[in-house]
Amino acid sequence: MSEPKLGGPFTFPGTSLTVNRMGYGAMQLAGPGVFGPPKDRDAAIAVLREAVAAGVNHIDTSDFYGPHITNQIIREALAPYPDGLTIVTKLGAVRPADGSWQPATSPAQLISAVHDNLRNLGLEALDIANYRSMGSGHGLEEGSIAEQVSTLADLKRQGLIRHIGVSNVTATQVAEAQTITDIVCVQNNYNLAHREDDALIDHVAHQGIAYVPYFPLGGFTPLQSSTLSAVAERLGKTAMQVAQAWLLHRSPNILLIPGTSSIAHLRENLAAADITLTPDALAQLDGVAVAAAG
Ligand SMILES: NC(=O)c1ccc[n+]([C@@H]2O[C@H](COP(=O)([O-])OP(=O)(O)OC[C@H]3O[C@@H](n4cnc5c(N)ncnc54)[C@H](OP(=O)(O)O)[C@@H]3O)[C@@H](O)[C@H]2O)c1
Repeated sequence: MSEPKLGGPFTFPGTSLTVNRMGYGAMQLAGPGVFGPPKDRDAAIAVLREAVAAGVNHIDTSDFYGPHITNQIIREALAPYPDGLTIVTKLGAVRPADGSWQPATSPAQLISAVHDNLRNLGLEALDIANYRSMGSGHGLEEGSIAEQVSTLADLKRQGLIRHIGVSNVTATQVAEAQTITDIVCVQNNYNLAHREDDALIDHVAHQGIAYVPYFPLGGFTPLQSSTLSAVAERLGKTAMQVAQAWLLHRSPNILLIPGTSSIAHLRENLAAADITLTPDALAQLDGVAVAAAG
């Protein structure tokens, strides 16, 4: 039997969308600070084309990357989109001319964001739209998200969104969203050293819901750990590869969307799906979060 490709398949619950567990996050394709055009647009296009040629069929994006630019690059690189490609986007913020990130959570703003995504991606319906709560930037903040999720549910009824997810949310907010509509994925900040969501991952795993960690490699602050480096050296892999392999081992509902603007890093990241970690290595890596918290 052949080895599962790119971490093997995962089907979003209640949907016909099946993706490989190793996907791709497009945020790094915009300019510095996720604002404006990239230095090398052709290189960005090449990264996307290589990802899809290698079997990636789950791409994470948002129209607030650039803004608009990342989606336009995705369209230029990949449209007409191949069968089986799932593009997941996020709604809930805008980028004024100063490059800041501002909440845009009223029904009118969410509707406008859906149309921006459709236009710039060249789609008639969004496969999955995540409501991205602004919380406290990359931190979580309690508070009702009912109005926003209800707006997305209306757009789903109208056929503009196929499925709904939530991002940067607490367990209470996930539960609230589930009283309004079916939630197929949760996208929060999580990695080897940042494990506040351990209980939430297990909780949504029981319901078959995907958990998609953002900042899987540490995002703007790359993961650094002597334990991670030691395990990687022993395995003859890079630290970033081992960090991704650890996420794939952590729970079968975890889908990866590492972000890169580099073909070399893309190849390295995709190869991480083939790494098997021994119980010993996993135990060592589990200690990294304890050390980071201490
Ligand atoms: N829901 C949300 O609020 C939210 C927030 C942030 C991000 N996201 C999504 O999550 C995706 C992943 O997050 P992210 O891109 O911010 O952070 P990330 O995947 O944790 O890390 C990306 C950074 O790591 C570098 N990198 C990638 N692969 C590498 C490798 N093999 N070796 C060394 N460095 C490597 C990238 O630089 P190079 O370009 O040089 O490779 C980039 O600086 C994003 O692309 C986006 O789609 C969602």
